[in-house]
Amino acid sequence: MREANIFERHMRRGTLFKPRREALYPDYLPDYLPHRESEIDKLAEILVTALRDEKPSNILIYGKTGTGKTAVVRYVEREMKRAREVYDSSVEMLYLNCETVDTPYSILQNIGNYFIENWNEKIPFTGWPLDKVFSVTQEKIDIWGGILIIVLDEVDKLVTKSGDDILYQLLLLDSEMKNANLSVIGISNELKFTDLLDPRVRSRLTQEKLIFTPYNAYQLEDILQERAKIAVKDGVVGEDVISVCAAIAAQEHGDARRAIELLRISVEIAEREGSEKVEIRHVYQAKNKIEMDCVSEAIKTLPLHSKILLLALALNEEAGRNYLTTGEIYEIYRNLCKRIGMTHLTQRRISDLISEMDMLGLINASVKSFGRYGRTKVVELALPYIEVKKIVLQDELLEELGNVKLQSQRKLFF
Ligand SMILES: Nc1ncnc2c1ncn2[C@@H]1O[C@H](COP(=O)(O)OP(=O)(O)OP(=O)(O)O)[C@@H](O)[C@H]1O
Ligand SMILES: [Mg+2]
Repeated sequence: MREANIFERHMRRGTLFKPRREALYPDYLPDYLPHRESEIDKLAEILVTALRDEKPSNILIYGKTGTGKTAVVRYVEREMKRAREVYDSSVEMLYLNCETVDTPYSILQNIGNYFIENWNEKIPFTGWPLDKVFSVTQEKIDIWGGILIIVLDEVDKLVTKSGDDILYQLLLLDSEMKNANLSVIGISNELKFTDLLDPRVRSRLTQEKLIFTPYNAYQLEDILQERAKIAVKDGVVGEDVISVCAAIAAQEHGDARRAIELLRISVEIAEREGSEKVEIRHVYQAKNKIEMDCVSEAIKTLPLHSKILLLALALNEEAGRNYLTTGEIYEIYRNLCKRIGMTHLTQRRISDLISEMDMLGLINASVKSFGRYGRTKVVELALPYIEVKKIVLQDELLEELGNVKLQSQRKLFF
């Protein structure tokens, strides 16, 4: 029977998610953040001075990825906006992510424009001298005259890219204003970046320090449970599934983002399969999918010659052998280059590419002893060759190598 439209079959299958499936996406900000009560309270304790119209200390928040730094600060921001109505205080909290807002100009421009309503007066994206952006921003905040808390998320990226000038400028902005005050909350997952700071900037930025420790498996279970309740239909995700997702993520780095992603993809796989509930095997399938997606991304961005080397290794495994000496891989690589009319690189350069891929975990290189023939370096894939071959051949320059086969005598091929 012909279906009414291309969606019908999928519509009939139904969904395991509730309408609020976005609760399993990383940007979702829940109403409750389990196991971060004390961090939230500590921030409230420091920032409460702003509600009394006094400047709070600058804060540096540090913790590994996925430990809830951004979520906690955005949560506090939301609470602050509610509280200022209750206490009638003049507080603004302005969140900037330095991954996208990553130059002194754009930071000052964003802050300034926050206080400029008239579109004709807004500071342009580029073109003004920095000191003009600085003075206009200063003037606008000062006219407003309240307590401004600037959140610089991923501040380490900003400092690595543009140095600590902007932090210095923000501290200067604060000291030059008559009516308004400005505090900074910096968030970073790299503590070492503070070594790059001028000592005066460092001591002022880190007046208060807050460290977020990675979650353990039990904490991740509670986090997942909360999110699953919002996003997934009742009975679809059992406690066993939550435990496995939490255990896998805890083993990695205690990263809540990974745990939530693993759960979401597990539900998606179960749904696509037409299952009524998520089973543990779906979680392992999801884990493999995430790993392969990561690997695939890493392979796709490699230089072309590295891809050819991977293809050489994949063809070798396809022919039933598991490793190649560096001499053998070079030989196959050269033949593959010839086949697509490309000039090959020197053996020395190829050695470098091999070391790079070894570091990325795409291949394993080790030194093997061949008895009286001595020791030599051998290389093998660290991933299933079928997947590697598929990903490499997606490069349009290598497409035509799709039919190439290697005979079991390594050097004779095609
Ligand atoms: N205690 C928690 N309760 C509920 N969800 C949480 C909790 N901690 C983190 N999450 C969720 O985990 C994900 C990652 O958290 P978040 O983005 O805050 O991490 P982060 O520490 O800022 O990481 P990064 O350093 O990579 O930016 C988000 O979806 C967030 O909502
Ligand atoms: Mg973050």
